[in-house]
Amino acid sequence: MSVPSFTVSPDAHRDADAVVVIGVSRDADDQLVIHAHDDFATVKKLAEDVEASTSKESLTRLPHPETTKPALAAVGLGSATADTKLADDSGVSAPRTNLLRDAAGVASRRLAGKQILEFAFDFESEDEVLATLEGALLGAYAFNKYRQATIKDVKSPVEHVHIRTSLVMSESALERVREKASAVALVKDLVNTPAQDLYPESFADQAAALCANEKDVHVTIWDESQLATDGFGGILGVGKGSEKGPRLVKVDYRPQPASTHISLVGKGITFDTGGLSLKSGAGMMGMKYDMTGAATALAVILAVSRLRMPIHLTAWLCLAENMPSGRATRPNDILRIRGGKTVEVLNTDAEGRLVLADGLVAASEEHPDLIIDIATLTGAATTALGTRTVGLMGNTSEISHLVEVGQSCGESLWHMPLPAELRPLLNSEVADIANVKPGNTAGGMLIAGVFLRDFVGKTPKAEDGSNSQIPWMHLDIAGTANNGSSAYGFTSPGPTGVTVRSLIDYVSARCIAK
Ligand code: BES
Ligand code: ZN
Ligand code: ZN
Repeated sequence: MSVPSFTVSPDAHRDADAVVVIGVSRDADDQLVIHAHDDFATVKKLAEDVEASTSKESLTRLPHPETTKPALAAVGLGSATADTKLADDSGVSAPRTNLLRDAAGVASRRLAGKQILEFAFDFESEDEVLATLEGALLGAYAFNKYRQATIKDVKSPVEHVHIRTSLVMSESALERVREKASAVALVKDLVNTPAQDLYPESFADQAAALCANEKDVHVTIWDESQLATDGFGGILGVGKGSEKGPRLVKVDYRPQPASTHISLVGKGITFDTGGLSLKSGAGMMGMKYDMTGAATALAVILAVSRLRMPIHLTAWLCLAENMPSGRATRPNDILRIRGGKTVEVLNTDAEGRLVLADGLVAASEEHPDLIIDIATLTGAATTALGTRTVGLMGNTSEISHLVEVGQSCGESLWHMPLPAELRPLLNSEVADIANVKPGNTAGGMLIAGVFLRDFVGKTPKAEDGSNSQIPWMHLDIAGTANNGSSAYGFTSPGPTGVTVRSLIDYVSARCIAK
C-alpha cells in the first residue's frame, strides 16, 4: 500500500473532520504536562478532568475546546525523570525524537478509520517534526489486499497527515521521510504476500517492474539455467526441491559521480519448510517471512535511487523456495558454491546461509567498499536478543556506526561477536565446510555468522602485497522481522520492516564519508 499524503504548515488543517493529536506526560512532581501547539494551552484542564493517561501506548479522546472541530486526542509520552527529561521504558532519558515517533505511530494506528490527523505537538526542532511525521506514516500501514472489501470491521488507514508547526522544514528532509516510510511499506507488502503468489520468479519480476523507471538502475536476473552456467550451487541446491525455480537478482544503482560502493545481499527464501529436514507444523508457520532480507535490500536500493543519493549501491536478492520433494537436496549432499568452495549440507533447514554464500561471493567479485547482508537467518537470534533487537556481526569498525544510526532511527541493533573457536565446529569430513554442527545449540546465531564469513572475499591486493577481507556486516533479523505479539509504537502485528530506515540513513551517511 502507499503511505498517507502529508502537509506541514503553521496553520490548523482546514478540514473540520481532522482529529488533532497532542501529547501528555507527567513531570518529576507527577503533574500533568501538555505537549501541544500554543493554541491548545487551555486543553490542560480538559485533560486533567478526564484523567488522560500519560503512559506510552495510551490514547485518550478529549472534547475539543472549539466546537467547530469534532475531535482531539491526547497520546501518552510517559514520565519525566528527576532531570526533567522524558524517559524511555527503562527509565533512561530518551531522545524526544524517538518518543514522538512512537507516539505518533500509536495515534495513527489507533485512529485508523479517521481520514485526517493533525499533529500539534510542542515541536522543538526540525528533527522532532520529521520523527513525528515518520511515526505517523509508519503507523498508518495496513494490508487489506486479500480481504473482502465489504467487511465492515476493518478500518481503513489514515489517509492524510498534517503537521502543525511554524518551524521551517527542508523539502528534501520531508522527502526522505516519505521514501523511508514507503520503503518500509514495500517490505511489509512483499512479506505479507503469501508464498503462493510471491515465489522466486514473481519476486524477481516485481523487482524488475519496480526498478523499470528508475534512473541509473540496472536489473539482471539469473534463472535456473543461468544459475547453473555461472556456478551458483547454493541457490540451486536450496531451490531444487520446489516446483518454483530459484532466481538471483542483481539490482545496480550507479549514478555519476559515486565514489563509494556498498553491496547489500538479502536472504530471499519465499517459503522455508525446512526442506527434507522438515520443520514442524508450528515451526513452519510464518515462514513466508523468510524473504524479508531480500525485500529489505530491494526497498533500500529503491529509496536510495529515488532520493538520488550519490553512491554506487548494489542489491543481490538470493531467491529460492525451500521445499521437500524427490528432487530436493538431501542431508549429506555436497553443494559447490560460486567460486568453488564446497559445503556439506547436514541440515537442509539451515538453507539461508547456503543462498547467502553464493550472494556474498558474487558481491565480493566486484570488490565493493562494504558488503551488508540481511537475513532472517536463525531462531537463535530470538534466543539471544529477543524480538526487538537485531543481531549485528561482521569484520569492520563500521558496525558501531550502524548501531548509532539505528539509535537515531529508534531501531535497536546489537554488536555480537564472531568467535574464531566456533569455526572448527563446521569442519566437514568430506567438504570444505559443513552448514551446521549437528546437535549443537550453543551460539547458533554466531555459528551462522562464522559460516558466512568464509564466503566474504578479499580486497584487491594493496601495493605492499597485502590483502584483507572486504569490510562486511551481517544482520540477523530473524527475531525482529515479524512482530508476533500485539502492536506497540508505530509497529503493528506482522512484518516490521526492521533495519530499512537504518540502512537508508546509513547509506546516506556514507555518501559523504568514504
Ligand atoms: N528461516 C529460519 C530461521 C528462522 C527461525 C527465522 C524462526 C524466523 C523465525 C532458518 O532457515 C532456519 O531454519 N534456521 C535453523 C538453523 C538450524 C537448522 C541450524 C534454526 O534456526 O533452527
Ligand atoms: Zn530454514
Ligand atoms: Zn530460512
